[in-house]
Amino acid sequence: MNLKIKAPRGQATADGAAGIDALDTSFLYEELRRNYVTHRKTIDVDFREMVSWIKGGDQLTHHIHPYPAKLLPQIANFFCRASILKEASGILLDPFCGSGTVALEASMAGIQPYVADANPFALMLSRVKTTPYCVKELEECLETLRSRSAKFRSAPKVEIVNSDLWYSEENKFALERIIRSIHELEDKSTREFFLICFSVLARKISYADPRVNVPVRQKIKDSFSPAAKASVQARFDWLKNVSAFDEFSKICNSNINRVALTNNAYPSRNCIKELGDDARNLRSGRRRLGAPLPDSSVSLIITSPPYGSAQKYVRASSLALNWLGLAAPKDLSALERRSIGREHLSERESLSLEGISKKYRHQLDRISRVNLLRAKLTATYMREMSCVVAELSRVTASGGRNVLIVGNNQVCGEVISNDQFLQDCFESHGMTTELSVRDDIRARGLMTTRNRATPAISHETVLVFRKGA
Ligand SMILES: C[S@@+](CC[C@H](N)C(=O)[O-])C[C@H]1O[C@@H](n2cnc3c(N)ncnc32)[C@H](O)[C@@H]1O
Repeated sequence: MNLKIKAPRGQATADGAAGIDALDTSFLYEELRRNYVTHRKTIDVDFREMVSWIKGGDQLTHHIHPYPAKLLPQIANFFCRASILKEASGILLDPFCGSGTVALEASMAGIQPYVADANPFALMLSRVKTTPYCVKELEECLETLRSRSAKFRSAPKVEIVNSDLWYSEENKFALERIIRSIHELEDKSTREFFLICFSVLARKISYADPRVNVPVRQKIKDSFSPAAKASVQARFDWLKNVSAFDEFSKICNSNINRVALTNNAYPSRNCIKELGDDARNLRSGRRRLGAPLPDSSVSLIITSPPYGSAQKYVRASSLALNWLGLAAPKDLSALERRSIGREHLSERESLSLEGISKKYRHQLDRISRVNLLRAKLTATYMREMSCVVAELSRVTASGGRNVLIVGNNQVCGEVISNDQFLQDCFESHGMTTELSVRDDIRARGLMTTRNRATPAISHETVLVFRKGA
């Protein structure tokens, strides 16, 4: 059954901040839930249409950085604005926070966002996105950075993976002077704001192809049309003469403007609180050694987990991780090993099906006969996501909900039903599925097509699981 549900007339159409704050999507949520519980069929929805009060294009601080595979803010907004899902505690957890889309929507809805992510750059980005900075201070700091970096005649060398591939000597040196001036800012939070702006610049003035999320050296290929060749050549010419600081200023000013708009609409939003760097092992506080997050302590979890080897988060952020000192080139592989949905495994790793149900074992067996490595990667993904589900079930309060946004992918011609797999996992932990809806993915960063035989992910399913009665 395909059911298109639209926002009822007169509901959820306000434009001003006060109007937006008054919105409550509980009515729509209940209508969808009742429909699902009656028919037990995934419902087709269009979140852009349902959450029509969020306009497309530049949305507040959501756009301060193009992190890969960001969640549609409308989806996060819809669930954060349903009072029926909020408990008195007023907290929410996103254990795979990425760029902080859920965190920002939660914080603007007056909820305290708690987050985790394996990528330290994602955590920094989420902190910056949710911080209500003083705009005047940011503007003054930008002036300080301009005068300082112009004065520097030298700057410490920053080690970047395959640096010569990405930068001319002049641009690398210009970047080193700018980052030196940022590191001299006293306030950590302000420093992080400018580091995020810097990471956009470091990518923009590199030879990495701007159309691809992971760094790939841009080239003029014989197969290109004359117009395409001219456009890439024009970019190369621009890179020769670019003023790094002027570009940096432009990026900072756009982001300062985004902060100003967000401050106007939501002056008292909450900055994220961190719960470590592994969704399988949630800890109180930032460090991995913190005490485990207590059992049954969170009533609302909203998250979009990684897909099996479909995204390359560490590689996509490698330049930023190196420049910002969050991971040296030699540490990138270790960081990738901690990421779920990773692309690589050690040669010695065997195909382990432990804890994976029969239903999926047959499929993994078929895949292993075509490509053993892909079967191992998929099995690893399934085992690791089972651990995540166990952890999320543990921390969910009785009556609390887990909202998961998942996409299916293809491996060796087989569709991997991540949605069904996660539903089976949550239900095996005694949770009830109370809603399943599906939305098309239109323009999303880094929805990669592995090769011609593997179509990109075309839709995502939003599943809601409830613990206990
Ligand atoms: C689909 S993205 C989340 C995107 C996010 N919703 C947004 O709007 O930007 C998945 C995230 O999971 C993170 N991740 C991978 N393995 C993880 C782990 N073991 N624990 C926590 N986060 C992990 C990746 O670094 C990535 O940021």
